[in-house]
Amino acid sequence: MIDLRSDTVTQPTGQMRQAMADAVVGDDQYGEDPTVRELEQLSARLLGKEDAVFVASGTMGNLVALLTHCGRGDEVILGDESHIFWYESGGAAALGGMPFALLPNNEAGEMDLERVEKAIRPKGRMGYPATGVISIENTQNRCGGAVLSMEYLASLKAIADDQDIPIHMDGARIFNAAAASDTPVDVIASQADTIQFCLSKGLAAPVGSLVVGSGEFIQGARRSRKILGGAMRQSGVIAAAGVVALTEMVTRLPEDNQRARTLADGLAKIDGITIVPDAVVTNIVIFQTEPALDHVRFIDSMAAHGVRVSNYGTRGVRMVTHYQISDDDVQTALTAAREVLSSVAVAAD
Ligand SMILES: Cc1ncc(COP(=O)(O)O)c(C=O)c1O
Repeated sequence: MIDLRSDTVTQPTGQMRQAMADAVVGDDQYGEDPTVRELEQLSARLLGKEDAVFVASGTMGNLVALLTHCGRGDEVILGDESHIFWYESGGAAALGGMPFALLPNNEAGEMDLERVEKAIRPKGRMGYPATGVISIENTQNRCGGAVLSMEYLASLKAIADDQDIPIHMDGARIFNAAAASDTPVDVIASQADTIQFCLSKGLAAPVGSLVVGSGEFIQGARRSRKILGGAMRQSGVIAAAGVVALTEMVTRLPEDNQRARTLADGLAKIDGITIVPDAVVTNIVIFQTEPALDHVRFIDSMAAHGVRVSNYGTRGVRMVTHYQISDDDVQTALTAAREVLSSVAVAAD
């Protein structure tokens, strides 16, 4: 079975499994796990921030960051196509009492800057919730893995700095963004105060995310993590795979981005598929099969052809490339899509 549903399906590499077996560990709540500390320091260094904290998942990383940036009742300015809004169970509202001020994301994953500026609400006004943080996503999953441009990030940062509002970046796939835009990851990260990034997506580690930021922020984030029950003990066992992810898996991400583009170019040539291949710059490919074929039927028929793809967005289909997807797998997936859609055309004849 070729599994293109997500880069989260990746299995740990042999080197990761070995590193996990050999990991030197200690009680991380006493600050005594050297492998966790190594992962945190490596992460902070790579992203150009003072410190980092290891968390169980991207969802936990985003929530830890928002809880640390905001007081109860403070508002989060957020894109309406963001993962935090769609897929994180409303955790910020449920656990932090934080309302979302949602602004539309365009296809490039951006929020209109004028609207962001207008949405910022000052502290200390009776009646208004105060803006606690502006949250952005890079790459933006539901916008087809779009990479936020450096111009956009710089303009947003200028607005946020002017009003003294921090920016949090959900950088679950920030290394794919860096590869696609040929921009060092710390340069991208310099445009946000805090970043959450995932080890367990394209980087193929089994578990974990990091939140990076200033030393003072990360101290607060450790407390937020504890409140969420996410402070761990001998977590060096899983952090060890994360160290391998950061040292061995980052440089191969351009391959995933390239294979996604090959997929997109191939899909664009199939009658019945709607896609803008030029918009595919990272490892996420989103397209439509309707009206030619109901998207759920397309997904089921692909599975019957040995290719798993996911149901995404409004009637969308998603394919995500990762290190277990080869060039041959891409061609097999394209052949399957062609067969599925041509059988519909024959049926309609
Ligand atoms: C953009 C984005 N942010 C956050 C997450 C959450 O990560 P996790 O599944 O580790 O909680 C995901 C997961 O797919 C994601 O795509």
